[in-house]
Amino acid sequence: MEVQRVAVITGAAQGIGRRTAQVLNESGWSLVLLDLQAIDVSEYSSAIALSGDIADESFVESAASQTLSKFGRIDALVNNAGISCISSALDTSAELYRKVIDVNLVAPFLLAKAFGRAMVAVGSGSVVNVASVAGLQGVADRSAYNASKHGLIGLTRTLAVEWGALGVRVNAVCPGWVKTEMDHKDQAGGSYTDADITEHVPMARFAKPDDIAQAIAFLCDSTKSGFINGVSLPVDGGWTADGSWQSLRLKHR
Ligand SMILES: NC(=O)c1ccc[n+]([C@@H]2O[C@H](COP(=O)([O-])OP(=O)(O)OC[C@H]3O[C@@H](n4cnc5c(N)ncnc54)[C@H](O)[C@@H]3O)[C@@H](O)[C@H]2O)c1
Repeated sequence: MEVQRVAVITGAAQGIGRRTAQVLNESGWSLVLLDLQAIDVSEYSSAIALSGDIADESFVESAASQTLSKFGRIDALVNNAGISCISSALDTSAELYRKVIDVNLVAPFLLAKAFGRAMVAVGSGSVVNVASVAGLQGVADRSAYNASKHGLIGLTRTLAVEWGALGVRVNAVCPGWVKTEMDHKDQAGGSYTDADITEHVPMARFAKPDDIAQAIAFLCDSTKSGFINGVSLPVDGGWTADGSWQSLRLKHR
């Protein structure tokens, strides 16, 4: 009988996290879905949902023990939950900066420790951190967010080195701009428009949550990505590859 693999996904109530849960469900994974918001698990074949704040270490520890008592194993951790923060550096308070670092960088570390410990103990598993193109390049008015995502890529590389020989792979995906609630809220603040993004992306469109979810699923699955460890994979339609100036880029449309 085939063993049912178990994935933990943070921020699974909506957006990239929800689509990742659907894709892994279609491939037969059991799911543990974490979010601040309640999640209706009736769309999945085998899933539990736990509501809480991933920046709270006691919630993370309790989620890890509930996962092991329910399913008895953990094969993949998807550190997806994150918060946006669009604010010029001079206007960003230390309190706001710390909050973004706490959710986007400290929480993935706590989750990696709590769930990674169980993976290291059995000598297999995969951690996928959802970073951003903002973890690879500077983007103005995002000092806290960009620092958190650059840090998450640093954490990815370091855990890949510490845990690789123990059978646990650690990778990141770096989405470009994705059409989710996060984008709706950010655009409602007036800082950019659809055209600002689509004119810059060589593939001339936003990412869909499914584009990112498929890359995450690939990195979770050791039968497909079993020797990929420590990479930060852009899923950005060519955004980070493109050093063209605007008129040159648009000439190729
Ligand atoms: N949307 C984009 O354009 C984009 C681009 C690059 C990277 N990303 C990254 O992808 C990830 C998912 O983004 P999305 O667009 O789906 O976001 P989203 O805002 O639509 O969803 C994020 C989910 O995380 C949950 N969450 C937030 N803080 C939490 C906390 N402290 N504890 C538990 N749950 C929490 C929210 O409730 C929500 O369900 C984030 O890490 C984000 O930074 C998004």
